[in-house]
Amino acid sequence: MSEITDKYRLNDVMFAREQIEGRAVEIGRQIARDYEGEEVVFIGILRGAFMWLSEIVKSVDLEVLIDFMVVSSYGAATKASGVVRIDKDLSEDVEGKHVILVEDIVDTGMTLNYLKEYLEGKGTASVRICSLLDKPSRREVPVDIDYLGFTVDNVFIVGYGLDVAQRYRNLPYITSVRVDG
Ligand code: IMP
Ligand code: MG
Repeated sequence: MSEITDKYRLNDVMFAREQIEGRAVEIGRQIARDYEGEEVVFIGILRGAFMWLSEIVKSVDLEVLIDFMVVSSYGAATKASGVVRIDKDLSEDVEGKHVILVEDIVDTGMTLNYLKEYLEGKGTASVRICSLLDKPSRREVPVDIDYLGFTVDNVFIVGYGLDVAQRYRNLPYITSVRVDG
């Protein structure tokens, strides 16, 4: 226990490991069918997407490239100055390529809305979105999620890559947290 994990209590398991892994297999196979004969570049948004991306690609029987971006979101309050800062850009050249952006959760939609346009601006053949979770009650800008794991209510989620104050990313299941006291 640290000062941080002391502050939060984990609620009951919302999505178990087997459920998440099962959904990842379904989505991975769907992607393989949708892109038959094509090469796909998976772009994981760090840090939250690392576990979901690794689970998905195991079931994608295609030629794939895997790349990552690190972004910081500023959120709606500072939207005039641009909502997303790119801390680590792509290593691959994605011009003319089919890209799938892999995210942990779509909340306001600001991050993916921005990143999708950013990638389309690089001359990609197509850009689709694959997210582990969707929290539609919080949406501020529209985002089409092409491949979705699960929908959640307006609660704070941790586990399977998602954090609170950088903790709990390693939980092999998804749950929510509440502040104690
Ligand atoms: P958006 O730009 O508002 O859609 O923000 C998406 C990012 O906010 C996600 O990639 C997460 O890093 C973070 N986020 C949003 N909701 C949660 C949550 O419930 N738990 C953990 N992180 C979250
Ligand atoms: Mg994130």
